[in-house]
Amino acid sequence: MPAEPWARFDGVGLEADGRTILSGITLALGARSTAVIGANGSGKSTFVRMLNALRVAGEGSVRVLGLDPVRDAKELRRRVGFVFTNPEAQILMPTPAEDVALSLRGVPRADLPVKVAEVLAVYGLEGHRDTPASALSGGQRQLLAIASVLATEPELVVADEPTTLLDLRNSRRVGDLLLSLDAPVVLVTHDLELAARCEEAVLFEGGAVSAMGDPRDVIAAYRGACP
Ligand SMILES: Nc1ncnc2c1ncn2[C@@H]1O[C@H](COP(=O)(O)OP(=O)(O)OP(=O)(O)O)[C@@H](O)[C@H]1O
Ligand SMILES: [Mg+2]
Repeated sequence: MPAEPWARFDGVGLEADGRTILSGITLALGARSTAVIGANGSGKSTFVRMLNALRVAGEGSVRVLGLDPVRDAKELRRRVGFVFTNPEAQILMPTPAEDVALSLRGVPRADLPVKVAEVLAVYGLEGHRDTPASALSGGQRQLLAIASVLATEPELVVADEPTTLLDLRNSRRVGDLLLSLDAPVVLVTHDLELAARCEEAVLFEGGAVSAMGDPRDVIAAYRGACP
């Protein structure tokens, strides 16, 4: 683990509807890539949503990129790119070209068409520049959602099951892309092959962290807990 963690959780807990969803989460995240694994309902999505202030801790403290998610929610959302499981939640424009262009805010207008074409080509979407987003396949929509988030060049990337809709080739493509970013990335995934490629892994069980460290050990602990 590098010397400087970019996120710290200290005694973090959360309740909703009178039920404990997360409890006793104390950890530092500092790896370039972190896999978050565990059973359905174990708290993974709730945990990573705290990284960009989509969910706020009920108790304990959270710091991400030096920011307090309660006080600095707006700035945190601007600096953390979040890829949702459901791409429909984040495709904002009618076509892939327009959606990617919206993310390329700093690019001069005259350069946009070339830059948009470059981004779409990375995701194999160059043939669907102007296809209505509603007509794209599920996997193509997921690729577009990832393309648009990464085009904003976030300082931290969080992706909640980014490969669930993707075929083998595109899963690899997205895995390669996410794992080669300069920014640190946190991946929630049920794809243990992808988790094994990360630098570090965290295992959730019943709203708590039950293992953290080398992905090989953490994946073994997960398999062991699932007889
Ligand atoms: N607002 C809420 N009200 C009540 N229960 C909630 C709320 N938000 C989350 N939960 C519950 O908290 C638990 C953890 O949910 P979470 O979405 O974090 O799980 P997960 O590990 O991401 O699961 P999956 O692998 O299925 O995506 C679940 O039992 C869920 O039903
Ligand atoms: Mg989830």
